[in-house]
Amino acid sequence: MSCRSIASLGLLAGLALTWFASPASGFRGGAPSGFTGSPGDGAFSCNFCHTEPPGSGLVQILGVPGAYQPGRLYTLTVRVSDPEKFGAGFQITAENAEDEKVGGFEIIDPNTLYADGLTPWVTHSAEGVDNSAQHWSSMGGAFEFKVGWRPSAGSTAGPITFYAAGNAINNDQFHTGDRIYFASETTEYGGCLWDLNGDGRIDSIDLTTLLQSWGDPYGAAELGEMLGSWGPCP
Ligand code: HEC
Repeated sequence: MSCRSIASLGLLAGLALTWFASPASGFRGGAPSGFTGSPGDGAFSCNFCHTEPPGSGLVQILGVPGAYQPGRLYTLTVRVSDPEKFGAGFQITAENAEDEKVGGFEIIDPNTLYADGLTPWVTHSAEGVDNSAQHWSSMGGAFEFKVGWRPSAGSTAGPITFYAAGNAINNDQFHTGDRIYFASETTEYGGCLWDLNGDGRIDSIDLTTLLQSWGDPYGAAELGEMLGSWGPCP
């Protein structure tokens, strides 16, 4: 047996213990962390346990900006659809070009939570799966989970890729009869937030621009943020 399969067995045993230790939540109450199928997750995915082949559904990551600015809050939507299924769960993660986690996720939707409480991954909550089943047909055989993402000021200045796995379920509280779909979307580094002239620094030139537009669209909140990130862009 290879090292990889021994490691996988150990992982599975650990997961099973965690699962049986908290019967009230189970996997329906959130997928275990590290199963998006991303390069950084070592290609571990929901298919590890949910093995039905995919059908005519899909998962989409909507709202990814073409370019991101550290410090700004983005609202992403993970949409899972499959006309032959009855609800959904998901997991999303974000990685840089070196396949390292960049995090930045904020919980903005009660249908979601951090997987195992770990911030590099957001997954469905039990309430989210219940709500997905309730609204599935009225949304045309689909459900949407909202995920906040605020890239940190110290994050890499390179491209960042989101990886999502979506599970379109038969809603039987079991791991069979569910279909797994995958998606990824990349966003480029778009400069830092208060670098209004794009020269890589937040300085008096940007301050002058902000003061000239005082009241519309900028005010005291923006001034505070600008002064808080004064200097070279991260
Ligand atoms: C280690 C095994 C394992 C992995 C990995 C796993 N699941 Fe599950 N999942 C289960 C089991 C077992 C159940 C049924 C029992 C339960 O809900 O606790 C389940 C149930 C679910 C359900 C409810 C299904 C229904 O029909 O009621 C959803 C939603 C779900 N998983 C989503 C996911 C997603 C999304 C992933 C990947 C990001 C994932 N799971 C990865 C084992 C796993």
